[in-house]
Amino acid sequence: MSKQPTEVELLVTELGEDGLGHSELNERPVWVRNALPGETVKARILKRRRGIRFADGEWLADAHPDRQPSACEYFPRCGGCSLHHLSYAAQLRHKEAGLHKQLARVGIEPDSLPWRKPVGEVRLGYRRKARLGVRALGDRVLVGFRESFSSRVAQISHCQTLTPELSRLLVPLQQLLPQLSIADAVPQIEFAQGDLDICVMLRHLKPLSDADLGLLQDFARQQRVELLLQSKGYDSLANVFNQAPPQHLTYQLQDYGLTLGFFPDQFIQVNTRMNRELVSTVMGYLHPLPGLKLLDLFCGVGNFSLPAARLGAQVYGLEFSDAAVAMAEVNAARNRLGGKARFGVADLYSTESLPNVSSQSEASSAYDALLLDPPRSGAGPHLANWLAQTKLSRIVYVSCNPATFADDAKIILDAGFSFQEVGVYDLFPQTAHVETIGVFQR
Ligand SMILES: C[S@@+](CC[C@H](N)C(=O)[O-])C[C@H]1O[C@@H](n2cnc3c(N)ncnc32)[C@H](O)[C@@H]1O
Repeated sequence: MSKQPTEVELLVTELGEDGLGHSELNERPVWVRNALPGETVKARILKRRRGIRFADGEWLADAHPDRQPSACEYFPRCGGCSLHHLSYAAQLRHKEAGLHKQLARVGIEPDSLPWRKPVGEVRLGYRRKARLGVRALGDRVLVGFRESFSSRVAQISHCQTLTPELSRLLVPLQQLLPQLSIADAVPQIEFAQGDLDICVMLRHLKPLSDADLGLLQDFARQQRVELLLQSKGYDSLANVFNQAPPQHLTYQLQDYGLTLGFFPDQFIQVNTRMNRELVSTVMGYLHPLPGLKLLDLFCGVGNFSLPAARLGAQVYGLEFSDAAVAMAEVNAARNRLGGKARFGVADLYSTESLPNVSSQSEASSAYDALLLDPPRSGAGPHLANWLAQTKLSRIVYVSCNPATFADDAKIILDAGFSFQEVGVYDLFPQTAHVETIGVFQR
């Protein structure tokens, strides 16, 4: 059998939900980065896996009408983003089309639904949390996102999707790390940025020398960041100066007079401005809030629970992470909402029936509304049970995965709800990730 050519001319037929152009070679799929439907590209095959080829695309002819020059010089090699070559309006249309497709897959007719206009307001410089790879290469150390189609670390000296404050740390880190005695034993660095402070978490697999500690302390002083050393899991995070556990960071939701704390390893929505939009949209869907009994499932540190409580709802938030629940309770108390918002720890993937809102004697049907914001795997196996047991009238579902959103939407519709509105919410511009919001009414 002849060896596959490494460079071929291909016609791109489709843009996948992962932002890759789709084509075929000898009746086998080829996924091409930096390629749009209708374009002819020179594809350089970079990787083959289970009969699928992955290629770099160099545009040759018939540019897609929505092609735009990438704002990022590292695109498409850096795998942090996948849509820099597509105009922003077309990115939103593409994300909405992906959601259409997922809904159609489960038998929901997308054209019959009440769509809201896609929302996207910040295009670059939005990302306040990130995990970056680190790789020692001779006397240099790379710090960046993984390359697409590879586990190599991309060579970048700035990043357009990170906030400017985080992007500015890349070069100083690349200068610092080669000086450490254990430069080859630092596999990753994570950033978390609050409104006021920045944390840098440095994972290290070998003990640091005193000289290393001195260098790291200088870095923390010069860059005005909290530098946390991580020798094992997140439990081992320790301040570089005094080995103390991390301080919490904060972000404000000004519209609700709220300041929320979070620890650097905890989940927060990565896009500050779009999160504010999202919170206010969700509150709009829950309106009227005074007296509403709301169950907030997958509540994190209270990003939705506390604005709802501020507007007068009686909220019960459930969440798997006990640290997040503890933080949500602190956030409620500090914002004087302890009487309105309560929280509990629960593994919702194994919770068959919904707990009671305010007292053990009250039936679970006491909830008026349900807010769902699960991880990528969706609401879990008990969603149908929850809906069968209650007389909820409203569900607001925020999702980071259109596929599991569609599966869960089908379950919700089968339980007697109908869509009041659905749409995409772009928390991750320039990437293929998409947030979906669905509102259901019984
Ligand atoms: C997408 S985040 C949403 C958090 C919060 N609503 C926010 O806006 O910041 C999903 C949350 O689900 C939690 N989670 C993951 N698996 C879970 C499970 N099995 N049961 C309950 N919560 C879980 C995570 O800890 C995370 O806080």
